[in-house]
Amino acid sequence: MAKDFSSMEDSNRSSNPSIHDISEPSRRTLLRGTAAAAFLAPLSGLTALTALSGCASSGAGGKAAGSGPLLGFSSIPISNVDSVTLPPGYVSQVIAPWGDPVGLSGEAPAFKPDGSNTAAEQLAQFGMHHDGIHYFAIDGSKSGLLVMNHEYVDDGLLHRDGLAQWSAEKVRKAQAAHGVSVCEVTQKDGRWQVVLPSPWARRITASTPMAVSGPAAGHALMKTAADASGRRVLGTLNNCGSGITPWGTYLTCEENFIFYFKGPDTPSAHEARWGLRKGDPVGYRWHEHDERFDAIKHPNEPNRFGWVVEIDPMNPSSTPVKRTALGRAAHEGATVALTRDRRAVVYMGEDARFEYIYKFVSRDAVKPGGAAANRELLDHGTLYVARFDAEGRGRWLPLVHGQGGLDASKGFADQGEVVVKSRQASDLLGGTKMDRPEWIAVDLQGWVYCTLTNNSNRGGKDQPGVDAANPRANNSQGHIIRWKEDGDHDGLTFQWNHFVLAGDPFNERAEAKGNVKGDTFACPDGLWVDGRGVLWIQTDMSTSAMGKGELAVMGQNQMLAADPQTGEVRRFLTGPVGCEVTGATMTPDGRSMFINIQHPGESPSERSDPAQPDRFSNWPDKRPGARPRSATVVIRKADGGLVGT
Ligand code: FEO
Ligand code: CA
Ligand code: CA
Repeated sequence: MAKDFSSMEDSNRSSNPSIHDISEPSRRTLLRGTAAAAFLAPLSGLTALTALSGCASSGAGGKAAGSGPLLGFSSIPISNVDSVTLPPGYVSQVIAPWGDPVGLSGEAPAFKPDGSNTAAEQLAQFGMHHDGIHYFAIDGSKSGLLVMNHEYVDDGLLHRDGLAQWSAEKVRKAQAAHGVSVCEVTQKDGRWQVVLPSPWARRITASTPMAVSGPAAGHALMKTAADASGRRVLGTLNNCGSGITPWGTYLTCEENFIFYFKGPDTPSAHEARWGLRKGDPVGYRWHEHDERFDAIKHPNEPNRFGWVVEIDPMNPSSTPVKRTALGRAAHEGATVALTRDRRAVVYMGEDARFEYIYKFVSRDAVKPGGAAANRELLDHGTLYVARFDAEGRGRWLPLVHGQGGLDASKGFADQGEVVVKSRQASDLLGGTKMDRPEWIAVDLQGWVYCTLTNNSNRGGKDQPGVDAANPRANNSQGHIIRWKEDGDHDGLTFQWNHFVLAGDPFNERAEAKGNVKGDTFACPDGLWVDGRGVLWIQTDMSTSAMGKGELAVMGQNQMLAADPQTGEVRRFLTGPVGCEVTGATMTPDGRSMFINIQHPGESPSERSDPAQPDRFSNWPDKRPGARPRSATVVIRKADGGLVGT
């Protein structure tokens, strides 16, 4: 969908008080003023916890954080050129673009540059709009599986003639270009390639059968005409951020699912709270040929999306599972940390204006034995929503049926209804309404970071005002908040501060200036901590706002590296025109980094024009008339050194 702030979801009309209502204005000013100082405070005495987002890539050359400068590269300026730009001494390579064969046995349809591949061919090719990604090692840093999300599609580029002559075939192709790709990759002398064919290669799409587990499995709210069991859903949608588990599985997160559904003239309170709008969907026409996306006829179908889906990439015949114990949300990502007694804690942001940050704490400890030994680990535990109080303190509020008023008298018959209606439950408990929580990462000292990408409605008419955690009205620039749990990752309380308020210090409006120590940026989205402890920040300025007004001097979307202990930020990569930069992972040796370039050449209007597909970009093929294609970029140092040094 077009990345237009005005079309972003904003459905939280709950009356739960924001911190604004209970905190002193003078205190809010003080918090803003001390944010920079707060993150410069020494982190002495903090215990390094096992943050899976980082330590899955640990062993980065055996170099421990603190044994030398964390950031060793020369930062680069902003850019508006249609290419990937890196610091001196770094090289990049494009692999796995949309439409290339993913490696299915006996099926390797070549990409047709005019968009004329069929739906059946798309089922054997990489999808569109790459997002979250992870490298699962097979032979260390020499070969492995890349598992990646395909968030959405641009029908103007996907089909030869775009939206013209809309058909069931076009719907099937669009659905086939969504979901997840699993491919095998191998390197020789630093050059990577997708292995064709590979026994692990797989496409998971908006039509792939999936199981449902946890408290909503079999619930009345999950049953449809096509699935009387409420336990078998077709497909996964709008797969945005991702995560991994300690037992070797991949978590793909369903974000803006509601935009695929046609809504009734008068949506119910539940439908309205989840952003279902009257009439045809904002961006998609699937309901015209696939009736389940007509929520008037099938009102429970939207309840079957908005989940975190677990996939075992090492078992190509395994059924993906929607883990409903983790709650339903417009999920951005799912980042797993471990408590000292090895229970899994899943941190999740819900990217919509004034929505919430969640964590799930598993009941059981992770067992040795990989995916098979832990197939129910994410089905039992406690889901919490975050409340950020003033004075840099916060609390996790349990979304547990029977507690805090979450009972039948308030519309929650059981735990299944609590998780299907996580938003309403969070409203009731008084979670803090955030500025679009995106990715979450855990650093080597145990601080948990969340990007709050922007919220132009903050402080607007009849909208929540600023609060301690979301301190800027018309938050056009976004910020990164971080917290440290009291005790362990299962702690019920935490301390928090702002790691950085994004923005250009020369912006005229005080609330858009930010306090970046180093290279400026705006609209942080992707976030990942590597094995050395570098905090990688990726930006997603909307195409409609980029290059204008308060974003005028930011150039194209980019990736930056931050030192969590000093707060220094250095720009590392700039992307092609109209793209966002998203998803990050490395080989275990820290010498090959994989990131995704999503929607290069995105049109500021609703869809690209198939008559001039290269109007804004023809990356990565760089031929006149070439359709821009989302793709994975491998980044290495020319001398084979550690990425980031
Ligand atoms: Fe799909 Fe919130 O970015
Ligand atoms: Ca994102
Ligand atoms: Ca985003």
